[in-house]
Amino acid sequence: MKKFKRYLVTSALPYANGPVHIGHLAGVYIPSDIYTRYLRMKGEDVISVCGSDEHGVPITLKAKREGVHPQEIVNKYHEIIKNSFEKFGISYDIYSRTSNEIHYKTASDFFKKIYDKKGFIEKISEQYFDPEENQFLADRYITGICPHCEYEKAYGDQCEKCGTTLNAIELINPKSAISGAKPILKKTKHWYLPLNKYQTFLEKWILEEHKEWKQNVYTQCKSWLDKGLQERAVSRDLDWGVPLPIDNSSGKVLYVWFDAPIGYISATKEITPEWEKYWKNDDTKLVHFIGKDNIVFHCIMFPAMLKAEGSFILPDNVPANAFLNLEGGKISTSQNRAVWLHEYLEDFKDQQDVLRYVLTANAPETKDHNFTWEKFQTMNNSELVAILGNFVNRTLVLTKKYYNRYVPEANYIEIDKKIIDDIKLIQISIGKNIEEYKFRQALKDLMQLARTGNKYLAESEPWKLKKTNPERVKTILNVSLQITVAISIFSEPFLPFTAKKLRNLLNFKTTIEEFDWNFETLPAGHKINNPKHLFCKVTDDEIEKQIDKLQLRIKKL
Ligand code: 2FM
Ligand code: ZN
Repeated sequence: MKKFKRYLVTSALPYANGPVHIGHLAGVYIPSDIYTRYLRMKGEDVISVCGSDEHGVPITLKAKREGVHPQEIVNKYHEIIKNSFEKFGISYDIYSRTSNEIHYKTASDFFKKIYDKKGFIEKISEQYFDPEENQFLADRYITGICPHCEYEKAYGDQCEKCGTTLNAIELINPKSAISGAKPILKKTKHWYLPLNKYQTFLEKWILEEHKEWKQNVYTQCKSWLDKGLQERAVSRDLDWGVPLPIDNSSGKVLYVWFDAPIGYISATKEITPEWEKYWKNDDTKLVHFIGKDNIVFHCIMFPAMLKAEGSFILPDNVPANAFLNLEGGKISTSQNRAVWLHEYLEDFKDQQDVLRYVLTANAPETKDHNFTWEKFQTMNNSELVAILGNFVNRTLVLTKKYYNRYVPEANYIEIDKKIIDDIKLIQISIGKNIEEYKFRQALKDLMQLARTGNKYLAESEPWKLKKTNPERVKTILNVSLQITVAISIFSEPFLPFTAKKLRNLLNFKTTIEEFDWNFETLPAGHKINNPKHLFCKVTDDEIEKQIDKLQLRIKKL
């Protein structure tokens, strides 16, 4: 396997037209955060970038509906999204935005370089135009019946029901999403990236050289490539976006899917003057975390753009996740059918890790998954509280009761040595699973450690031996404390708030300098702090309140 010198981790830039919900978190942002936190702990050179995607029709449509300027919409949601990520401990090196000047320049220069190399095709074609609003109807500005599945609200660029990418001209009974008017066809000039020219290159690069990509990603790419790639317009007739940096093109902007991925580059530039080291060196491992609806853009279109530009590296992997459903139905921003992160925190204050845990354990890694509040309650009460929290608490309470919070001396026998060996094996397994983007399994490994601890305590029964064999009890508690230390280290990528609390309780590796992926045992004589519970039970009332909230919203629609 290739050895990389540094990592560049990107997370899909969310559209700044609404807050982020649990589906976003489970599909993209928690996995990328686990991956990045782990790499940082290992001492790797890693940069993690994200930011708001502030262009595109979803934003202008919302602005139009609310009667405000698009800038007002993106300013509002950029702040809300940024704040939610921070509160959930999603630890980007930068959370930028595509309305920044540096991004306009980066995206323009990128386009210009391909343009100067004659990498685009200029074409005049007929496109839908709203005669009442006097504007072209790009992408979601037009709706109609999907020719493939007959869904009535398909968009001009995509049918959200069957997932097919559409050309507006294919829609049956098209309507303007702004005025409802029947559109007319009008001639307009656009610039196209000839994806067909990159077909052979992409086939070799993905289908032969990246057979290790997740099956859902690989299969989707193969199906696109098997259908044969077409040229794709990279400009739009809109007044919101990065203006086309060429003469005689006023009123035209870059297609949002041309400018948005370049946002990863602009964000890196904002972090470091050495940005080229991350983007132009073969020994950088570039990883794009995305949802499944973004696969074609990150595996076909962006790589073709990077290749056309000529000086950038390509992603090593694109670990896309499927979708998370909510109580058996689709999560939908436009229908307000979601659990919004900022609202979750109002109801479950300081319980970010509970949601991080449930969403990781339930992550839609290979297929769509369902989130239910009942499952949320069970996973909290029977796993976090009853397994992890219980083990840690018993260990800390007994250490206080028997040894006044001092780590006792140990005299390891076979069974204890086996536990210490198991800790090391679990650590290796967690690392390997994270590196292979199998975050659910990695979290299971972590919980296995807590289960091992509970079993060890239950079987060795120190409370019974305290009178008859006090020396043995010292060793049992010493070993239990070593398991607890291991949990405090290995849980950091998944449950950063809990990990920090636990390190404070253990009075161990509490500063950032001390803190890394190495498993070090607690020395005898070390004094820990007073025990406190790590988790608390979620009650039936709390769960009912959430279910009612969702029902009420659905009824209102
Ligand atoms: O699907 C989305 O939410 C897009 N805004 C993702 C963009 S990812 C990248 F290209 F910026
Ligand atoms: Zn369809």
